[in-house]
Amino acid sequence: MTKLCIIMIGLPARGKSLMAERLREGLSADGLQVCVFNNGNLRRASLGYMSGAASFYHPDNEEGRMLREKIASDNMQLAREFLQGNGQVAILDATNGSRTRRAFLEKELAGIPVLYVECVNDDAELLELSVKRKARLPEFGGMTRGEAVRSFSQRIEYYERIFVPLSRDNEKSYVRVGTLDNRILEEYGCDSVPFYIQIRDILVSDWIRNMFLVRHSQSQYNVDGRIGGDSPLTPRGVRQAEALARHFKDISIPYIFTSTSLRSGMTAAPLLEEHPDSQVIALRELDEINAGICDSMTYDEIREKMPEEYAARARNKYDYIYPGGEGYVTLKYRVAMGFRKALFLSGAAPGMLVIGHQAINRMILSLFMYRPNDAVPYIYVPQDEFFHIVATHRKKLLELVRFTG
Ligand code: F6P
Repeated sequence: MTKLCIIMIGLPARGKSLMAERLREGLSADGLQVCVFNNGNLRRASLGYMSGAASFYHPDNEEGRMLREKIASDNMQLAREFLQGNGQVAILDATNGSRTRRAFLEKELAGIPVLYVECVNDDAELLELSVKRKARLPEFGGMTRGEAVRSFSQRIEYYERIFVPLSRDNEKSYVRVGTLDNRILEEYGCDSVPFYIQIRDILVSDWIRNMFLVRHSQSQYNVDGRIGGDSPLTPRGVRQAEALARHFKDISIPYIFTSTSLRSGMTAAPLLEEHPDSQVIALRELDEINAGICDSMTYDEIREKMPEEYAARARNKYDYIYPGGEGYVTLKYRVAMGFRKALFLSGAAPGMLVIGHQAINRMILSLFMYRPNDAVPYIYVPQDEFFHIVATHRKKLLELVRFTG
């Protein structure tokens, strides 16, 4: 039987576990026996709080280093036993940053093909958000959130000191992948790696288990017919947000992404009451289209005061850019970035909810439904229904669900 050991590589918070889980799920769906061996989980189970301290990872901390090598060795043995039995693909999920560690694993796995998968992500803001998310891990139980963030950042710095990049001189087969945009950055010696066609396909595919795309509930400006601004929800909007929370009472949504606007945050509030353990993350990339000099005006006021602008937008709504602001055409990149950040941060969570805006949700939807550009600014985005989206390499779904009753 064909066997393979995938060895994940990458500094902390680069999306390794997310990719490992996607590979496990994707290859299992193809009928293979796959198992992930995660060093962090083994470390947390055996050492608990002790491994939350940054000093544990200091390159000169001999005791810490030996404990970590022991965990790597234990996991490698478990993986080897799995492959000697019915297992077909074992995934070693750890930083595996030093050449010494990699040489050790290769020696112990002799006879089993090895593929290195390096996860790369250098987006500073995303790293910061990831570190904040990691600071919630139980291993930081004895620390405040701030201390945990500092400790984890220091740990990354220690790992950076010993990290040796993959190289054609040292490694036989590897693929480097950008985990924010699922892009292959470099491939080397992969042709003869078992299951590589499926692996590559999984690495470059979107992986959305359950995304619930919601538009913020009714705001004061919606009632006034004004665009942009930062108005709060109306009493009716608050009731809509409460109905949304009731709908999601028993649905797992560990991550809720909002824009930075008041109306989006207020829509999230009742959800958070139902799901106190969920994390709410506000992303600027999800802010509504910036209407520039037209901000806070009604469409009638724009028609009266700036007839040329009004006519230009009516002629070509997709390409029109508000003076001093944005257009759908310029939203494309920023919204795609926000959406990718949300996917990265929600990791392998069973579900995540995005509370966006009319134009923003249209742009996100255009990633899933084919619409020519000129039709995108007219996609229907209601406030009492949401889109449920699933996109894995085996399943695609886009359904509109009503939640008010
Ligand atoms: O009217 C609500 C709103 O979210 C405005 O803030 C925004 O300018 C507008 O929708 C975007 O929709 P359209 O592109 O159809 O004007």
